Amino acid sequence: MKAVVYKEPFRVAIEQVPDPEIKHPNDAIVRITSSCICGSDLHMYEGRTAAEPGIVFGHENMGVIEEVGSGVKEREVGDRVVLPFNVACGFCKNCLGGFTGFCTTVNPGFAGGAYGYVAMGPWVGGQAEYLQVPFADFNALPLPPGNDYEADFALLADIFPTGYHGAELAGVRPGESAAVFGAGPVGLMAAYSCVIRGAAEVYSVDHVKERLEKAEGIGAIPIDYDAGDPVEQIKSHRKGEGVDKGIDAVGYQATSAGSSAAGGEQDEVPNIVLNQLIDVVSPTGALGIPGLYVPSDPGGVDPHAARGSLLINFGKLFEKGLRLGTGQCNVKQYNAYLRDLIIAERVEPNFVVSHEIPLDEAPEAYTKFDRREEGYTKVILHP
Ligand SMILES: NC(=O)c1ccc[n+]([C@@H]2O[C@H](COP(=O)([O-])OP(=O)(O)OC[C@H]3O[C@@H](n4cnc5c(N)ncnc54)[C@H](O)[C@@H]3O)[C@@H](O)[C@H]2O)c1
Ligand SMILES: [Zn+2]
Ligand SMILES: [Zn+2]
Repeated sequence: MKAVVYKEPFRVAIEQVPDPEIKHPNDAIVRITSSCICGSDLHMYEGRTAAEPGIVFGHENMGVIEEVGSGVKEREVGDRVVLPFNVACGFCKNCLGGFTGFCTTVNPGFAGGAYGYVAMGPWVGGQAEYLQVPFADFNALPLPPGNDYEADFALLADIFPTGYHGAELAGVRPGESAAVFGAGPVGLMAAYSCVIRGAAEVYSVDHVKERLEKAEGIGAIPIDYDAGDPVEQIKSHRKGEGVDKGIDAVGYQATSAGSSAAGGEQDEVPNIVLNQLIDVVSPTGALGIPGLYVPSDPGGVDPHAARGSLLINFGKLFEKGLRLGTGQCNVKQYNAYLRDLIIAERVEPNFVVSHEIPLDEAPEAYTKFDRREEGYTKVILHP
């Protein structure tokens, strides 16, 4: 089958790879209808992880079940399904607690597995024609048959639940104010989730004009950090006050004001968003941090950053009594509920999707999405 294969930093290619097979009775094979490119893929694409050439990318997958193993009981051939980016077993201690992003079964020696991602286990990615899905009864979320809401449902694999997770980690409640740093796909979904949860005022910080416009489109107040310190801008909107809650949807590749949209090592300030959140969130508030931070970064801006050690103002965090939550999203905690909001037409997350293209055009789309080129917000590949 055809798949998107990582070749070297800043280069992927469409190549023939072996078709997936049922290897265990609980497996299913899914024929992919949609697989999205994620900001998380870009960390590998840019050579900022330990990803080796040859890995097939793709952790945001949906499609139709083509084949099931003899142990699969709830799902059947022909079912339309979306797969959480987390691969999980359903029976380990963490899965039983709902923490499917930290499954200890699927990636021995590590808590957490995913498709097509470095250090996340042997699971081949789905930017391809077919995908092997382990523990299919547990992992495959059923969808109504047909083609309706395809782009909305595709976002249930990762960014919609992940944005929602940011709001959940921060504990955003009705009537509150929230600042979301990053208006990439995850940040936009986090801002949207704050709106869904009834926040009265949501700020969206970025410097890509087109992304800020999308944030404004869902009722958030856009803050361009190239136009001045975002903390001061937000406080001046609020008569000097901070916000109740803050979300980091940027992660360790945060850039300083005035840098190119694509960033670059000299522009990168990995602790900037964390410290700005500590500044802008009011005492007793909370920070949700779905943006990715890593314990080892081959391209870290200094020896500390290369080990994931960042200087953050912990004294201020303590003084203000702030709480914080981090980590991979446990997609299964949210995906069925968010699916039902889509079906009930109460939400329409597909506003983030900018491009739907054939799998063959993935190499060019990676280049453009990586440059955060205007217009490239979220790309869905259709094999
Ligand atoms: N926790 C999880 O489960 C999970 C899942 C998916 C993605 N992620 C992570 O979430 C982050 C965002 O993902 P994405 O797909 O939206 O990526 P993205 O790279 O498309 O978006 C990041 C955005 O942050 C903006 N940005 C950069 N520096 C900034 C700053 N100083 N202040 C404000 N905005 C700034 C960029 O302009 C960009 O628009 C990534 O780190 C990704 O790895 C985490
Ligand atoms: Zn993703
Ligand atoms: Zn598990």
